[in-house]
Amino acid sequence: MRTIELKTKIKCCSYDELDEKQKALVDVAKKQTAHSYCPYSHFHVGAAARLKNGEIVLGCNQENAAYPSGLCAERAALFAAGAHYSDQPVESLAIACFTDGHFTKDPGSPCGACRQVMTETEHRYGGNMEVILYGEDKTYIFQSAKDLLPLVFVSENLEG
Ligand code: THU
Repeated sequence: MRTIELKTKIKCCSYDELDEKQKALVDVAKKQTAHSYCPYSHFHVGAAARLKNGEIVLGCNQENAAYPSGLCAERAALFAAGAHYSDQPVESLAIACFTDGHFTKDPGSPCGACRQVMTETEHRYGGNMEVILYGEDKTYIFQSAKDLLPLVFVSENLEG
């Protein structure tokens, strides 16, 4: 028996340390929290996906009285990107969370289902997708969606 140790690289910085493209995407994700439909959790999540052609596709969480029918902001954005621009790789995805009248101090942490969809999005276009998790006190940057989900299930796993 042997132990496998997995390492993840996360860049941690302040908003001011982001480059101009990253700042612009975070700004859009922050703005998008205002359009979130979250009457049950009151937790507003905004997402912004920047595509290779420069388009920015938006998403925000959409809740439902039948709770599991809702959708997270990240998946709303990535599925919209896939629907509107199916030939365009997603180069970067920014996420921001707003609750109790302010943006969260810590970066939002995407749920497992969103991490799975992020990695599939990256995999389908063959490149890497940067993920920026915004927080008022600190922001995390992942160079690849894979860094958020080690041992991810991908299409090759279906081949046995
Ligand atoms: N939510 C997201 O939209 N993205 C995340 O990364 C975490 C959680 C939403 C789902 C639900 O509408 C609310 O936040 C509270 O869980």
